[in-house]
Amino acid sequence: MAIKTQLSPLLLCLLISAAATTTTAYGRKPHSRRPCNELVFFFHDILFNGHNYNNATAAIVGSPSWGNKTTVATPFNFGDMVVFDDPITLDNNLHSDPVGRAQGMYFYDQKNIYGAWLGFSFLFNSTSYVGTLNFAGADPIMNKTRDISVVGGTGDFFMARGVATLMTDAFEGDVYFRLRVDIKLYECW
Ligand SMILES: *[C@@H]1O[C@H](CO)[C@@H](O)[C@H](O)[C@H]1NC(C)=O
Ligand SMILES: *[C@@H]1O[C@H](CO)[C@@H](O)[C@H](O)[C@H]1NC(C)=O
Ligand SMILES: *[C@@H]1O[C@H](CO)[C@@H](O)[C@H](O)[C@H]1NC(C)=O
Ligand SMILES: *[C@@H]1O[C@H](CO)[C@@H](O)[C@H](O)[C@H]1NC(C)=O
Repeated sequence: MAIKTQLSPLLLCLLISAAATTTTAYGRKPHSRRPCNELVFFFHDILFNGHNYNNATAAIVGSPSWGNKTTVATPFNFGDMVVFDDPITLDNNLHSDPVGRAQGMYFYDQKNIYGAWLGFSFLFNSTSYVGTLNFAGADPIMNKTRDISVVGGTGDFFMARGVATLMTDAFEGDVYFRLRVDIKLYECW
């Protein structure tokens, strides 16, 4: 009896370590690919064009020396840097009640096609959410969908991490665009 009770935990340990070494090469359990939270928002960007000060939510703050701050540069807006404070809505209507603000910047960093780099935060202070989500990554605008990183969060999104899929839902010339943002969080607290 004594031998039996001493052996079985040992056997169990051996079995567990054997299972662990065969399932992963790095001794770490692979992360689940199932999101722990999914959210969909829209945000609306109206670029200042010299005549729409009251309506504009974004402004060119830097342009290449061959451009200016009221017209996007050619070719492909390359070198323009834009700061924005855009309303976030739950549907695709610019006039819906905003649930938060998307604040940050993007700059166009490709000379042979439309491409940008985004760094911004979603700021929520509503009955549904209080807190922030922070985004960063490359935005190859001509792709139907683009994935950028959700690098962190605060408040209701404390320590959140994940991926946001961007889609251009609408645009009007160089002045207005609307992005659909499908957020999938893979780390939630
Ligand atoms: C900005 O550049 C555009 C295009 O070259 C030009 O039409 C416009 O007059 C310029 N605006 C200013 C304020 O210089
Ligand atoms: C969030 O909303 C509350 C209630 O309206 C307000 O007291 C608070 O100052 C707001 N916080 C921010 C960061 O806007
Ligand atoms: C853009 O689209 C191409 C072709 O569909 C794809 O290979 C690439 O991964 C996409 N890039 C991003 C950042 O989503
Ligand atoms: C504000 O800009 C949007 C996007 O270009 C446009 O649809 C809307 O009519 C503008 N509103 C005003 C009051 O100019």
